[in-house]
Amino acid sequence: MTYSVAVSGASGYAGGEILRILAAHPDVQIRTVTAHSNAGQPLIQHQPHLRSLAHFSLQPSTPEVLAGHDIVFLALPHGQSGSFTDALADTPLVIDAGADHRLESVADWDRFYGGDFHDPWTYGVPELLVGGRKQREHLAGATRIAAPGCNASAVSLSLAPGVAAGVIDPSDIVSVLAVGPSGAGRSLKTNLLASEILGSANPYAVGGTHRHIPEIRQALAAARASEDRADVGGFGDDHPTHGGFSDRGHADDGIRISFTPVLVPMSRGILATSTAPIAKGATDADIRAAWEAAYGDETFVQLLPAGQFPRAADVLGANTALIGLAIDRPANRVVVVAALDNLVKGTAGAAIQSMNIALGLPEATALTVNGTAP
Ligand SMILES: NC(=O)c1ccc[n+]([C@@H]2O[C@H](COP(=O)([O-])OP(=O)(O)OC[C@H]3O[C@@H](n4cnc5c(N)ncnc54)[C@H](OP(=O)(O)O)[C@@H]3O)[C@@H](O)[C@H]2O)c1
Repeated sequence: MTYSVAVSGASGYAGGEILRILAAHPDVQIRTVTAHSNAGQPLIQHQPHLRSLAHFSLQPSTPEVLAGHDIVFLALPHGQSGSFTDALADTPLVIDAGADHRLESVADWDRFYGGDFHDPWTYGVPELLVGGRKQREHLAGATRIAAPGCNASAVSLSLAPGVAAGVIDPSDIVSVLAVGPSGAGRSLKTNLLASEILGSANPYAVGGTHRHIPEIRQALAAARASEDRADVGGFGDDHPTHGGFSDRGHADDGIRISFTPVLVPMSRGILATSTAPIAKGATDADIRAAWEAAYGDETFVQLLPAGQFPRAADVLGANTALIGLAIDRPANRVVVVAALDNLVKGTAGAAIQSMNIALGLPEATALTVNGTAP
């Protein structure tokens, strides 16, 4: 079977990357691409690297244009995709790259985003530990998927194994993350101008204000959940209304994270350094075993050998998250360094990997572990 696909937000960075990966997917046919202010223009004018899609024109992002496809990807600014969800009720599979369907907590949505709250959808990070299992179990057969925030996936994947195994103390997490400006999208902003970024490293959203903080807390709370709890609630399982399992990821759940992103002059990529205290009694072997058990069998999340740490450049264009683990006994902290491409494993790759799982296709279809270099 070939699935017909529409990509909304096709003139943007995330939409463009979704299209790049889908163009090589044997089981889908890209049928429609849509945009907002650039509707009516040729796709190739905005995505000149997508040569095989040169024949497409950007249509307006309306429910009528998006209806009638097997799969719709929404890659819109947060707050926009929620308005499409009712209109796409008949679409078998909808995958949102935005934040509208990621959070389970209305209070967190109000505090970090604001505007209308929309129901959480199945979270699109297959390798994430959820109550001793993997999120991919919840993605199988899913019909509504929320792809992750790019920074959030880097930090959640870094720390979930330690939280799940109880070898780190999640009440004192510190994470500092270098990210390229493509993470903020393509629209013009003064702080993203080359003259502001080149030759500099610029912190932003300092002091607990970054929007991915509740998403990370929510993921780590799910990682820590007991197996029974995961059976009952899962993590963002498909459900028609905002159900009664939404008490994870709140400020009083014992998960505290100080998160500081730093904008750096690489067009794409994330390097996240996350640390947390070693839990009482945890041995070095216990700690390393937690990450080995979580990712030893994974293709797209790879734990590097002891003493090795990833570089952001190693994962560019790849659907891979590389993780290096150190145990700093004098500081009594575990240090996790993670690299991923914000537009691949942080968005489009995660979305398409989740799509493959939802449809029962081989999980790695159209995705690669290999980056580009230099
Ligand atoms: N960039 C990343 O690394 C990344 C990572 C994870 C998640 N995401 C998420 O993916 C989504 C898209 O991000 P992006 O980086 O691709 O942003 P972007 O480059 O700014 O692209 C935004 C897209 O949405 C369209 N759009 C703008 N305003 C709209 C409106 N009011 N209604 C409908 N469409 C509208 C734009 O169309 P026009 O160009 O025609 O105006 C464009 O196609 C965001 O929710 C973001 O949080 C992005």
